[in-house]
Order: sequence, then C-alpha cells, then structure tokens
Amino acid sequence: MSAHADNAFDQWYMLAMSDELAPRQARRYQLLGLPVVLWRGEHEARAWLDQCPHRGAALSLGAVSGESLACPYHGWQFDAAGRCRHYPAHPGREPSEQARVRTFHCLEQDGCLWVCPGTPRRPPPRLPEVGDPAYRSLLVCETTVAANAYRVIENFLDMAHFGFVHPGTLGAGDDGEIAAYRLETHDDGFIARDCRVIQRQGNLQAQGPSEVLYDYALIALTSAVLHKKGADGARASDVIRLFVVPLDEERSQLRMHLSYDYAEAVSEADVIAFNRSILQEDVPILESQRPVRLPLHTALEVSQPADLSSIQYRRHLKRLQIGYGVC
Ligand code: FES
Ligand SMILES: [Fe+2]
Repeated sequence: MSAHADNAFDQWYMLAMSDELAPRQARRYQLLGLPVVLWRGEHEARAWLDQCPHRGAALSLGAVSGESLACPYHGWQFDAAGRCRHYPAHPGREPSEQARVRTFHCLEQDGCLWVCPGTPRRPPPRLPEVGDPAYRSLLVCETTVAANAYRVIENFLDMAHFGFVHPGTLGAGDDGEIAAYRLETHDDGFIARDCRVIQRQGNLQAQGPSEVLYDYALIALTSAVLHKKGADGARASDVIRLFVVPLDEERSQLRMHLSYDYAEAVSEADVIAFNRSILQEDVPILESQRPVRLPLHTALEVSQPADLSSIQYRRHLKRLQIGYGVC
C-alpha cells in the first residue's frame, strides 16, 4: 500500500500551537512520516513538505523574507504558493514550472495550526471555549511517546483504567464500576455522553471524592475533547483537549490543551503540574501496548462493555477506510 494514498492523509491534524511559530520563522515538524516545514511570513502560516525540489535540503533551515522562503543550500526562493521565483546562481533565468514545493493545507484558528497533507473533506474543528472570557486556556503538556496515535486517543476515551493508572486522582478506590453511557455518532466521529465516574480528585478544585460527568467528543481523526462537569451537569469546569500528531505509525506527539473556569482559585503552575502528572502516568502503559498498531479486526483483542467508545472509534476508522497505523 502506498502510504500517501491512504485516507489518513485526508484528515486534519493539530500540528502546532499558533504561538510556537513567530513571524518570519520556519520550523521542522513531522506528520504521518512526512517532514513538514511550518513557516510564517508577516502573519500567515503555511505548511509544506520540508524538502527542497532542487537537491532535497530541509527548507526549515532556510530564511523567511516577507512572504517568501529561501532554501538554505543554493538560495532558491519560493513564493507563498510554493513556486520558485528566483535562482541566485542564474539571476536572469525564469525558474522552471517544476521548481515547486509540495504544499499542504494549513488553517490557523483558535490558537491552533491545523494541517492536512491530502484533500480535506471539511474544515477543521472549532474550539468554542478558546477566547470565551469564562475560561482560561493553556497548553498543559507536550510530549513524544513511542505509541500509536490511535492507541493514545483510545486511552484518552477510556475510563476503566482510572483506578489502576491514576489511583490518587481520577480513580476512586474500590468503586471502579463503569456505568453504561450513550454514544451519539456523526460524520466526523462521535460523542460519548453521560459518562459518570466517582473520582478522588477530578481537578485541583475538587474537595474530596465526588461524582463527575464527562462528555467525550472525537473532533478529528486523532483529536478529542473531554468536557468535565459536576454531577448536576452544569457548564463544564474543565475542557480538556488531546491533540495527537501521528509522527509515524508507531510514534506520536501529544499536546494536552485545557480551558478551565477556576483560574482565580488556583495557580497556572499547579494546573499544569496536576494535568502533566496524570498524563505521565499513562505513558508507560501506552508504550507497553502490543501490537503497537491499532488492531481493527475484532478477533485480535477482547472487549468489555466499558469499551463502547473504543469500539466506536475502531468502527469510525474502518468506515473511513484508514490503513495507516492499523493492523
Ligand atoms: S537544495 Fe534547495 S536550492 Fe538547492
Ligand atoms: Fe489515563
């Protein structure tokens, strides 16, 4: 199978936060095994294959000037559309039509840079709480793990591990029973609603064990959002987003991004440390899972009723005919 023909390439990935990329900066990233240069002119950000069409040098080592990017090797200058406009070795010569960089779709919104290396079917998802004055939003963790991106998403959607992997916070001692929850499916994924669990300390504001109500939404192929509410189902106190970049089929970059409505009560450093330590507890489990790639054939793994979200996620990957990163 040619990886580039795979439907995973036609999806949006949250490759970087907007503030990682300053004006006139170029940086190297990786997505689905491809080297990607993200670069910004005066304002607009662009995502290209990080490989010069001349002799393959990394354009991310080059220099931005105005709305053009110059290769670090022989100085070819590419305009905003990726077309070469100048060969410094031949100033009077019109560059060839073929002297173009492979460009990707790149859309910046809600503080995020979304990239699709193939053909997207619809725009990337919005993050309505970012910019809402009721919440403070911040990146709480960024890390690279030797684990498959879909396995990471499944872990985020999974509640039955709380008592074992997060016993001091998200778990609740002996009461590890997972009540039935319901799924709403839509074209881009699904929402698991009315997920109820008792937690020792669901967030930094919680005073002792309490019941929390979760909604989990898959908003892109490897991005999910969790709304955490009190048992009364009022507005979410925490909106936790997990953006996973499949670096390749077996390694992932994770960014956890949080909007929370109790910024007056706790320090930003404490919020970061709390969420980071929970995520770090998941890492050894994620890196231990075999097969590394996500099995889509039901015969390969045995499920329990609490796995409804995971089963729905696998159905979704099958429906999209994703071949990258699965087995
Ligand atoms: S490799 Fe880029 S200009 Fe030669
Ligand atoms: Fe976890």
